[in-house]
Amino acid sequence: MEVCVVGTGYVGLVTGTCLAYLGHSVVCVDIDERKIEMLRGGRSPIYEPGLDQLIASGIQRGNLKFSTDISKPVKESEIIFIAVGTPPLQSGRADLSYVKAVAQSIGRALDCERRRVIVNKSTVPIGSGNWVGMLVKEGLSENPAWLDKLSSAANAPTADLAANRRSNGGRPEDLFLVASNPEFLREGSAISDTFYPDRIVIGATDAYAAERLRALYEPIVEQTFTPPASAPRPADVAVIPVVTTDLASAEMIKYAANAFLATKISFANEIANICERVGADIKEVVRGFGLDSRIGPKFLNAGVGWGGSCFGKDVSALIDIAREYGYEPALLHSTVDVNKRQRHVAVQKLQESLKIIKGKTIGLLGLAFKPNTDDLRDAPAIEIASELIEMGARVKAYDPIANDACRRQYPELKIEYAADAMALAKDCDAIVIVTEWEEFRYLDLNQIGQAMNAKAIIDGRNLLDPQAVEEAGFKYRGIGR
Ligand code: UDX
Ligand code: UDX
Repeated sequence: MEVCVVGTGYVGLVTGTCLAYLGHSVVCVDIDERKIEMLRGGRSPIYEPGLDQLIASGIQRGNLKFSTDISKPVKESEIIFIAVGTPPLQSGRADLSYVKAVAQSIGRALDCERRRVIVNKSTVPIGSGNWVGMLVKEGLSENPAWLDKLSSAANAPTADLAANRRSNGGRPEDLFLVASNPEFLREGSAISDTFYPDRIVIGATDAYAAERLRALYEPIVEQTFTPPASAPRPADVAVIPVVTTDLASAEMIKYAANAFLATKISFANEIANICERVGADIKEVVRGFGLDSRIGPKFLNAGVGWGGSCFGKDVSALIDIAREYGYEPALLHSTVDVNKRQRHVAVQKLQESLKIIKGKTIGLLGLAFKPNTDDLRDAPAIEIASELIEMGARVKAYDPIANDACRRQYPELKIEYAADAMALAKDCDAIVIVTEWEEFRYLDLNQIGQAMNAKAIIDGRNLLDPQAVEEAGFKYRGIGR
């Protein structure tokens, strides 16, 4: 199928690239010329394992293209994805100005040759599907091909304008339908999440739109494609469930999923804080209650709090939506509050351990909001670094991938960047593990300890074995243990 994806962020780029891998003909569109230039050269503007190779192979096969012009790909496509960002405004409400601009441009660009499905992949407030339909229609009112079509329908021999429009396909719904197809991919495992999702959600008011999207995803649903080398098929993956529902429910599914996952982590952090006070170990506690199949062990790792581009944004947006309807979502407020408080736990533990922070050298292991990405959006590390710098500490940091991104995006943060964990350790009075990078599990504690000024580790992700760390002569503080 011919597909156009507008917005080459994590969601748009990964979706477009994976659809091309499955054999569809895809054009990814973005207003950012620098990004499109890079992509045409086969390089991904974001760090995502395996993505570069898939982009290069799509370009080579000729069915993955990149453009800054929206109008030609829109004309040539049957399925048009909107995957531009929906960042939070100060109030927590989602900023829909990008979605609006894109929907109107699509309306202006459509030709009248065939019926299209316009798919919302951006996370948008409930009701946005209808709103996008309205905006596309606004665009249509400036679309010469459409206006021509209407006037030829009006000038046809019969006086029955409505009948004429119907027989000529002169109704907007003959030209386009809007569907919602929320995305659940995680950064760092985005390709695998796209090829082997737990489910595909399709929200549509019209059976035709749902059927076309189902056809688009057929190779994923039936798992008939040959997996790429970078994303082998997990042993337990069979047919992928497709949830077909109405637009509003599809939009709500995305918010409910992210709000639940964020709540699950905040719950683990809440229990961790209590564990710490009563002398229990959160890791043991989670092992014990996570084995209850009604609860499940995933997303219960206590730490310095969740971050990233989605959890904070989506929970705030859901709170805003509820309030718009006169409902105060108390549980969602708590999810956010617990997370805010959790961000300070590392600094509190440093204070308890070092007493005085001023003049001390603190090393942060990890900057990205999670491993396998260089994404710093809402990353706990940024808050921790700012707080420590404000308190008069000298802050060093090492992230396997995100040093450069942090240097570029936060030039005002006076962080000294280290090339590896050993360089980070030099002269430190304490080290804080902020991101759960796999390599931090295997630190050579003896060498690290020798380079440090004083041997203290705050394990903000409970990665290390406390006993082993203490045996290496360190003061160890984890979260909830
Ligand atoms: C996405 C979704 O859009 C968001 O709603 C969801 O909750 C998380 O995933 P992401 O892919 O991370 O966000 O977005 P971002 O990195 O902001 O990328 C959006 C892209 O759209 C950017 O490359 C931007 O240049 C582009 N864009 C934006 C356009 O091409 N046109 C516009 O009018 C605006
Ligand atoms: C999330 C959702 O998982 C995904 O389905 C959605 O489409 C986008 O938002 P992502 O933001 O990429 O994905 O990361 P995720 O792996 O969910 O982690 C989010 C944050 O939670 C990270 O900061 C991570 O460190 C933290 N986390 C995760 C914990 O603190 N504990 C856990 O047990 C799991």
